Amino acid sequence: MRRIEIFDTTLRDGEQSPGVALNADEKLQIARQLTKLGVNVIEAGFPIASPGDLEGVRRIAQEVKDVSVAALARANAKDIECAWEALSGGEAPRIHTFIATSPIHMRYKLQKSPQEVLELAVQAVRLAKSKVADVEFSAEDASRSEVDYLASVFTEVIKAGATVLNIPDTVGYATPEEYGSFLRAVMTRTIGIEKVKVSVHCHNDLGLAVANTLAAVGVGVHQLECTVNGIGERAGNAALEELIMALHTRRDQFGVDTSIVTTEIARTSQLVSRLSGMMIQHNKAIVGKNAFAHESGIHQDGVLKERSTYEIMVPSLIGVDAESIILGKHSGRHAVHQRFAEIGLNLDESQFEEVFSRFKLLADRKREVTTADLFSLADVQTEKVDPIHLDYLQVSSGTHILPTATVRLMYNGQRLEDAACGDGPVDAAFKAVDKVLGTKGKLTHYSLQALDGGEDAQGEVAVTVKFGENLVGGRGVSTDIIEASVLGYLQAVNRAFERGWITVREKNEG
Ligand code: KIV
Ligand code: ZN
Repeated sequence: MRRIEIFDTTLRDGEQSPGVALNADEKLQIARQLTKLGVNVIEAGFPIASPGDLEGVRRIAQEVKDVSVAALARANAKDIECAWEALSGGEAPRIHTFIATSPIHMRYKLQKSPQEVLELAVQAVRLAKSKVADVEFSAEDASRSEVDYLASVFTEVIKAGATVLNIPDTVGYATPEEYGSFLRAVMTRTIGIEKVKVSVHCHNDLGLAVANTLAAVGVGVHQLECTVNGIGERAGNAALEELIMALHTRRDQFGVDTSIVTTEIARTSQLVSRLSGMMIQHNKAIVGKNAFAHESGIHQDGVLKERSTYEIMVPSLIGVDAESIILGKHSGRHAVHQRFAEIGLNLDESQFEEVFSRFKLLADRKREVTTADLFSLADVQTEKVDPIHLDYLQVSSGTHILPTATVRLMYNGQRLEDAACGDGPVDAAFKAVDKVLGTKGKLTHYSLQALDGGEDAQGEVAVTVKFGENLVGGRGVSTDIIEASVLGYLQAVNRAFERGWITVREKNEG
């Protein structure tokens, strides 16, 4: 079977989702999981965009092995030098340079003639090639470009040393058949196409990103670009898990395979959701909570008699297994350790001790500690690096009283405390946090869901907060939903603080 490569851009295009801001530690954690998942290329970031992005790419290039690491650069010398600075020292670096080729982008955005764009593309690829052997060139908004012009740009960048040509549907405008014919036409007219890999990169504005990417498989492309959970600019990118399971389940149709270890899909999806703060909709294909749930009596009856009546994939294929041991307050170290190993979370001794003491606290508050709980408990590394954290929270609220919250935070070894009133207990708590720190966050999104089933389930809160012009997301989990809300808000505060988008007031114990 023909093998097709998977280029994961969760850490670059995915990170461009409004409200998502990952720090270098979080990016590294995701990159390590992506290598376990078996992707061929990790696009680690856009180094020129910020010092944090440069640092994230540098650490991934240096610390993550057995995978190619790509960095994005516009078609100019400054971006390319910066991408190279981030990638040098890596095992298998790739510079990914791009420029728009559609009439609309060239005219209005770039304000350059087609000839000028062609020259910039060639210069960029030549410069990138002087740094690394592996150079990907993307024609931004390719699907709205003129076929002959695009083929001439591709012909020239191949001569300049490009090894991969990417033909994106940047604005998610294409339809599957049309995209397939377009790719075929461009590939036929590009001289030297047989020397390079052809890649596709589809956005989901019309909900067609996965369908368009699969149409490209039929045309014979070599590389598919995608993100975990489909996160990305606007409506996102083609979802990795959907592509992989479509290729796997319908190999009779597509006739290709990949190096993806499907049993790592659920774990990767949960990690990305947790660290990005972007929750997965319940009915999301493959990784949504309901993806394998059968509700109607007729369906349940069918599945009990023969699974394949209503199930086209078995959940264990994506790493969702029936839990072998029920964990609760009587569970000891050994059982907890074993369950962590079963779900693929290998913690060192000190991490395990810390997680185990949190496990005990949680088991006192709920009857059964589930796999979802364990994943959230294991999220220690990210919490450890947060400079501002919650020490104490008290809220009073009810039918005829003004909701009031008192919050005590730890920052720089100091205890900072203040109280505030609000429209409700969550609002009061967020206002108290802002009062303590002297910040002013505007909540633009708030959602609350149970981490899993059961009346004692933990609450999972996702927030998006605007500080000045910058949007940032956060996520908190607790058996107490107000506490979960404050933890989510604080994660957003910490991310904004790390990026220098806010400063915080330091004062003595209030
Ligand atoms: O959507 C797009 O065109 C991109 C390019 C930079 C590849 O993300
Ligand atoms: Zn994109």
